[in-house]
Amino acid sequence: MIMAVVTMTDRPAPVTEAACEPEATNPWVKVWDPLVRIGHWLLLVAIATALITRGEPETLHQAAGYFVAGYVVFRLFWGISGPTHARFENFLASPLAAIRYLTHLVTGKGTRHIGHSPPGGLMVIALLVVMSLTAGTGMAMENRTPVPTALESLLQGEARAGGDDDDSPWEEVHEASANLLLGLVFFHLGGVLLASFGHRENLVRAMVDGKKRAA
Ligand code: HEM
Ligand code: HEM
Repeated sequence: MIMAVVTMTDRPAPVTEAACEPEATNPWVKVWDPLVRIGHWLLLVAIATALITRGEPETLHQAAGYFVAGYVVFRLFWGISGPTHARFENFLASPLAAIRYLTHLVTGKGTRHIGHSPPGGLMVIALLVVMSLTAGTGMAMENRTPVPTALESLLQGEARAGGDDDDSPWEEVHEASANLLLGLVFFHLGGVLLASFGHRENLVRAMVDGKKRAA
């Protein structure tokens, strides 16, 4: 009986979740929602697949390309109706603001942004535009009409009908935009590294768990 009393009184108070989280002083803020994060990493896989396959095998290449097109549609919708940091209105900036941010960043006086920085926001738009162009021209190559449209004739220099994908007037544009996309991805990675070092934070981890330091 005595033992039972000692056990009861000596037992430490149960640690609740609330006790672990300092109220109103949480050093982390949720920035990237799950759809942005999952979409981002799936997009990386899809673009890598499309770039590596370069058209063959056709099914895999096209499936990856259609995923990219679907991602663009989703991201446009999410940019208008998604959570705060996903919305275009919260990260669209002028090129001047982007240059100012980068100049300050390299001189060690950069302003930290919880969402996308001005150049980060512009890069999102550039990536979306070039991804649309690449996927769109890929689809145009597949949808050959027996009689070329005026634009197709102009691109090709002469009117050629039918033929396989190699003959498509869109092929060169598709290849050029895929190369441009690859170039933008390298700039994107450079920007992520620069901002991570500049602000001493792990932006890649933030794109994994969605959280960033509050201050
Ligand atoms: C094909 C390759 C990639 C593409 C097309 C791409 C595209 C994008 C896009 C569109 C966003 C904006 C996210 C949104 O607001 O929805 C973004 C953000 C981001 N990406 Fe990528 N990404 C690629 C590869 C990578 C890789 C390899 C990493 C890291 C190792 C990375 C790290 C990040 C980070 C950290 C952000 C958030 C940047 C910020 O804090 O403003 N990305 N990326
Ligand atoms: C953003 C997504 C895409 C990327 C990054 C991409 C990239 C590429 C690249 C690098 C090539 C090789 C170009 C060359 O060397 O001539 C290629 C070829 C090709 N792509 Fe895509 N592609 C994408 C989406 C699509 C889509 C959606 C389709 C069709 C629905 C498509 C259809 C093709 C075809 C048919 C070829 C072969 C062209 C030929 O015969 O030379 N692509 N793609």
